[in-house]
Amino acid sequence: MRKPIIAGNWKMNKTLSEAMSFVEEVKNSVPASDKVDAAVCASALFLAPMVEAVKGTDLKIGSQNVSDKDSGAYTGEISPVALKDLNVTYAIIGHSERREYYSETDEFINSKTKKTFEHGLTPILCCGETLEEREGGKFEEVIRTQLTADLAGLTEDQVSNLVIAYEPIWAIGTGKSATEKDAQESCKFVRDVVASLYNENVAEAVRVQYGGSVKPENIKEYMAQPDIDGALVGGASLEPASFLALLEAVK
Ligand code: G3H
Repeated sequence: MRKPIIAGNWKMNKTLSEAMSFVEEVKNSVPASDKVDAAVCASALFLAPMVEAVKGTDLKIGSQNVSDKDSGAYTGEISPVALKDLNVTYAIIGHSERREYYSETDEFINSKTKKTFEHGLTPILCCGETLEEREGGKFEEVIRTQLTADLAGLTEDQVSNLVIAYEPIWAIGTGKSATEKDAQESCKFVRDVVASLYNENVAEAVRVQYGGSVKPENIKEYMAQPDIDGALVGGASLEPASFLALLEAVK
């Protein structure tokens, strides 16, 4: 059985004091980590104090980005070595906003994913199609192309421990969530691609999240689907009550 994973992606929101008061409010109320993995992926500016604040609780902290290099002359980048040293657990890689606004390619995303594993962090690897691609019948081709390139060279063990977030771009921050049937079919397709690139055992082990306008009101429908193992949540992860309600609905 795959353990569900709910991760909040705060994107470029909150100040340090807002981040810390969120953490203080939720950290002792998240469900036990044997039931569900709960994480918040925050700005790199807040990761150190957040990790310190959640010590000994079931709330884990993730970064929204990570470099594909250990260290060196890479102005503005976030070192995976430094993330590991802070005890950060997850790193989001290949989010559609980074693919679109910062021109991240699948080759770069693959390189970051390998580097993240190298340093013992768990990547949350994002994939997804635009509305135009979906309506043009290109969904399968887009997802297969992304995953084939993003996973190239990863071992069976690494992919078994990976979290893949399937996020249809048209559903992100729009309030237009995919139906649970569409989300299930898409997440199953993601799993099928992993099976074709690796094998059934790896496909059965990898956790696939759905992301795109997930909220406390609709999360149960997604979580009832056999191939959806959790959610990557933007807007609805920003408020403590809403984040806790997402977790309560899953445990
Ligand atoms: O990483 C999270 C996704 O982009 C979803 O964002 O829940 O605000 O639609 P959203």
